[in-house]
Amino acid sequence: KRIVILISGRGSNMEALHQRCTEQGWPAQVVAVIANRPQAGGLAWAAERGIAATCVDHRAYPQREAFDAALAAAIDAHAPDLVVLAGFMRVLGADFVRRYEGRLLNIHPSLLPAFPGLHTHRRALEAGCKAVGATVHFVTPELDHGPIVMQSVVPVLPGDDEQKLAARVLATEHVIYPLAVRWFVEGKLRVENGLVIQADGA
Ligand code: GRF
Repeated sequence: KRIVILISGRGSNMEALHQRCTEQGWPAQVVAVIANRPQAGGLAWAAERGIAATCVDHRAYPQREAFDAALAAAIDAHAPDLVVLAGFMRVLGADFVRRYEGRLLNIHPSLLPAFPGLHTHRRALEAGCKAVGATVHFVTPELDHGPIVMQSVVPVLPGDDEQKLAARVLATEHVIYPLAVRWFVEGKLRVENGLVIQADGA
C-alpha cells in the first residue's frame, strides 16, 4: 500500500510512521511527504531518506479551494491508498475531504470528542482534567470529529504544564498512529454508521 503523509512542522509522527513501516516489513511504504510550509522540518528528514518530499505553499494560494486543488494534485501524483495528516495545520475543505473519504487519517492531541481545535493541552489543564490523550480518527468535513480509530490515555501529574503534558501525549502518539495505520493497510478497519469497527473483532 502507498502512503502519503501531510505535515506542517517537525514531523515526529511522520518519522515514527516511516520507521515502523520499514523496520517491521509492513505491506506499506511512505511514498511521499508533502508540507504546506517550505520550512517544515520534516521535509528535509524525508528527503534525506529518499522519500519524495515536496511543498505546496499555502501562501501562494489566497483561495482555499485553489490550495486544496493544488494539494490534491500533488497527492494524486503518488496514487496513494492512504493519506495521513501528521501535524498538518491547515483546515481542509469539504470537497477535499470527500475526495479522500475513508482513506484519510488524522491524529489529534486530545481525547476526542473533548477539545477539538487548538491548544488542547492548555485547555485540558484549565479544565482540571486528570487524564488526557491522543486520538487517531478518520477525517470528515467537520474539524476533529471523524470516526475514532484509536486513543491513548496518559495521566495529568502534579506540576504539569502545557509542555510536559504535550511531551507525554506525543510519546503515545508515536505508538498509536503507526498501529492505527497498520490496521488500515492490513484492511482491518471498517466504518459503519460513523463508528470504526475492527474487522477481526479484536
Ligand atoms: C502532534 O501533537 C499532533 O497530534 C498534532 O500536531 C502535533 C504534530 O507533531 N496534530 P509532529 O509534527 O508530528 O512532531
